[in-house]
Amino acid sequence: MPQKAPVVSACHGNSSLSGSSDQRGPSSPLPPAKQIGASLLPWLRPLVVLGLIAVAQGLAGCSGEVAPRNTHTPISSSGDISTFFYQMLLYLDIAVMAVVAAIWAYALVKFRRREGDDTLPPQNHGNMKLEVIWTAIPTLIVVGITVPMLAGVFQMSKRPDANQRIIEVDVTGKQWWWEFDYKNDTANGLQTATELHVPVNTAIVLNMTSADVIHAWWIPRLAGKRDATPGRNYPVYVTPREVGIFDGQCAELCGASHALMGTKLVVHPLAKDAEVDYQGKKVTLESYETWVQHNQADAAKPASAEIEKGAKLFSERTCPTCHIIKGQFDTAIRAPTSGPNLSHVGSRLAIAANTLVNNPENLAKWIAKPSAIKPGSKMPDLNLTPDEAKAIATYLYSLK
Ligand code: CUA
Repeated sequence: MPQKAPVVSACHGNSSLSGSSDQRGPSSPLPPAKQIGASLLPWLRPLVVLGLIAVAQGLAGCSGEVAPRNTHTPISSSGDISTFFYQMLLYLDIAVMAVVAAIWAYALVKFRRREGDDTLPPQNHGNMKLEVIWTAIPTLIVVGITVPMLAGVFQMSKRPDANQRIIEVDVTGKQWWWEFDYKNDTANGLQTATELHVPVNTAIVLNMTSADVIHAWWIPRLAGKRDATPGRNYPVYVTPREVGIFDGQCAELCGASHALMGTKLVVHPLAKDAEVDYQGKKVTLESYETWVQHNQADAAKPASAEIEKGAKLFSERTCPTCHIIKGQFDTAIRAPTSGPNLSHVGSRLAIAANTLVNNPENLAKWIAKPSAIKPGSKMPDLNLTPDEAKAIATYLYSLK
């Protein structure tokens, strides 16, 4: 049997280092021990400072209030599963880091070189016992994470049973906003933008796709992210259990205005109106059926001369080429670049993909120069005068 290279060397004791098997060789003496001990403090100082910054940052994130994009307070069972694994990994990581840091700190102090000691410490390369231990522990941790996580992934990917009410909506990502087409139930045929409205405690099937590039749908409090890819259809199954308004954000870099591609999930009560807190204000949410009936109806007819003027300008300045207004302008071209359905735009909470609060001033600002609000916006700058933009905004805001 060929002799193996000496990989494990026992403690050198006090013998002097010499001979060809010595890795350092006699011509490379160890630096004086004092130098190593003295160089420890300058290393520790920045570590302590970094640690304190990390603690301060962690504490700065603590708040009694539920932040709108907080993934720790999910509102669906799908969100519960991903939050469980997120927290499990987080606490497991902290525990592993604490153990490793403790061993590291202990070794740093206990085994640092003493003054006058020129010997090499025991070499443990190839130590079978150690190799087995530090292979087995991570393997057990990874298996312990993977098995329950796979079970969770399968649970989240399960289509809801067909013997219950299911609301199915096609969700299309566009540069840079979201379009929602309702496929069944009372909302069948409805088309909205930016805000997805669903009933509480009802199974929702969202079919994710994209009209142009890859986007990712993400309502942090609802569930995890899901890619919206052109030519593909990835479903999301969720049952929201809390009435309220929940903000979301496109989570895939999709071009110039990716950061401005927001969205909202509005979870309506089933029967009566409900009052909810949204951004520090009380907002009354009508029942889902009331919302559906209201949105299935044609857009409101102009009720004043000023609104009439805005509607005329809307038509003359070619807006209906891209935008549908049900019962008034129904001829928009359906193309990847076509804009949102504006039939009831006045009743939305936000415009321009959740970047501006919906009011006549912001609408006028948006219409006058879209690229100033969303760089790269597919909505052209029509060189409207401030008065024209104001008139069109007044008309659109009347479409409640
Ligand atoms: Cu769409 Cu990022």
